[in-house]
Amino acid sequence: MNRQISPAVHTMGYHGQNGGLFMAGDFVITGGHPLEGRVQIPAAKNSVLPLLAATLLCSGRVVLQGVPELSDVDQSMALLCAVGCRAQRQGRELVVEGQPRSCVLAAGPAAQMRASILFCAPLLARLGRAETVLPGGCDIGARPIDLHRKGLEKMGVHSFFAGDRLVLTAPGGLHGAQITLDFPSVGATETLLLAAALAQGETVLRGAAREPEIADLAAFLNRCGAVVQGAGSSTVRVQGRRLLTGCRYTPVADRIAAATFACACAAAGGRVELAGCAPALYAPVLEILEQMGCRVQRGQDAAEVSRYGKLWGAGKVFTGAYPGLATDAAPLLAAVMVCAQSGSSVEDVIFERRFGCAEGFAAMGARVRVRGRQFSAQPGGVLRGTEVTAPDLRGGAALVVAALAAKGKTRVSRTGCIHRGYAEFDRELASLGAQIEREIR
Ligand code: EPZ
Repeated sequence: MNRQISPAVHTMGYHGQNGGLFMAGDFVITGGHPLEGRVQIPAAKNSVLPLLAATLLCSGRVVLQGVPELSDVDQSMALLCAVGCRAQRQGRELVVEGQPRSCVLAAGPAAQMRASILFCAPLLARLGRAETVLPGGCDIGARPIDLHRKGLEKMGVHSFFAGDRLVLTAPGGLHGAQITLDFPSVGATETLLLAAALAQGETVLRGAAREPEIADLAAFLNRCGAVVQGAGSSTVRVQGRRLLTGCRYTPVADRIAAATFACACAAAGGRVELAGCAPALYAPVLEILEQMGCRVQRGQDAAEVSRYGKLWGAGKVFTGAYPGLATDAAPLLAAVMVCAQSGSSVEDVIFERRFGCAEGFAAMGARVRVRGRQFSAQPGGVLRGTEVTAPDLRGGAALVVAALAAKGKTRVSRTGCIHRGYAEFDRELASLGAQIEREIR
């Protein structure tokens, strides 16, 4: 079935107060059922969103394959439609065509997600101007956009605020530049790659983020005729082109979704095969789960995680920029830590407020503490079902993971934010044997 997304979808279907989908409902989980089965890992949300922004650089039709139905994907398609493109879902494929005619990003979808800022650089490249409200997204830290703005300035962009709108203009067009990022920001690296693809001359970006989603964006751009070298390393060189074509593309698999199901299996026990995602992409998560007592078998494009014995603490672990432990996986590992027989801690060096889920773990009876950026779990608590609220995307998924191991029923509310990054999370877990239902109150 074809489904055209229009900006109206935003106002009709999504409400910020509920954290996302209007009809998302609560998840009601009865813990204590081991998982068994196979999950096919879909395309990564954090790759699909920049790729959708990149379609604005393309004169031809773009087809993205294997894309899960996520509210952030719908919001991105609404942004594309509002600037004059056509964006349609055809089953698991997204089809985008047409040229941007407006430089104004629709405020509703733009304010809902962080990735909306990525649509500015392509509009600047095509139309010489972009206007947007500040991006929203999960409340996990301050998340400024100074690195995006500073880098763009070097490429000829002026930016200023007019009321609540950020206005960016490139009166003389975008030109290549030598840019060094103070921090390897994923979003700023993506913004600057998108700008550089159509800038005049060469851009050299040093201190770039090395996440797999960056290499994926570069591969997509190159398939469309761009000249990007070195993506995935900390120095990226881009020779600007006049315009890009379209292409058919399968984005990289979602390493955070794979890590989530691995953690779910660790918490609930049982055996789960994670198909379609190279284990190397989330190697630190798998290594920590092994230390905690899970068995992991790795293939080239799949991993099998199993846990039939006890779970032990992980000691002290830290997140880091790729290839370190992904910040997005930290709350999910925290959910496994609260199920362990000995203590562990995880510190997130990327975001200031990663562990909003700790309150929910504590309400379930876990002995946890958050000090600054560090979460720690002590043994001795017994997890019991109760009512908890999803604080953000990964924190919400982490509460579901902990609930799989809790005695009795847990109700997780505000699940709209979980739907930002997981398609049919409840059905996928239910297919593995979890007792999980969706209730609309
Ligand atoms: C991306 O966010 C992801 N989002 C996040 O995924 C992920 O947690 C994050 O990268 C880190 O891997 C998308 O791809 C849409 P950053 P982004 O810029 O780009 C600071 C999820 O759950 N910073 O690398 O916003 C910032 O405050 C989400 O799927 C500046 O100071 O991350 C943070 O401390 C959540 N100035 C750090 O850098 C800037 O201009 C890393 O942010 C930009 C960032």
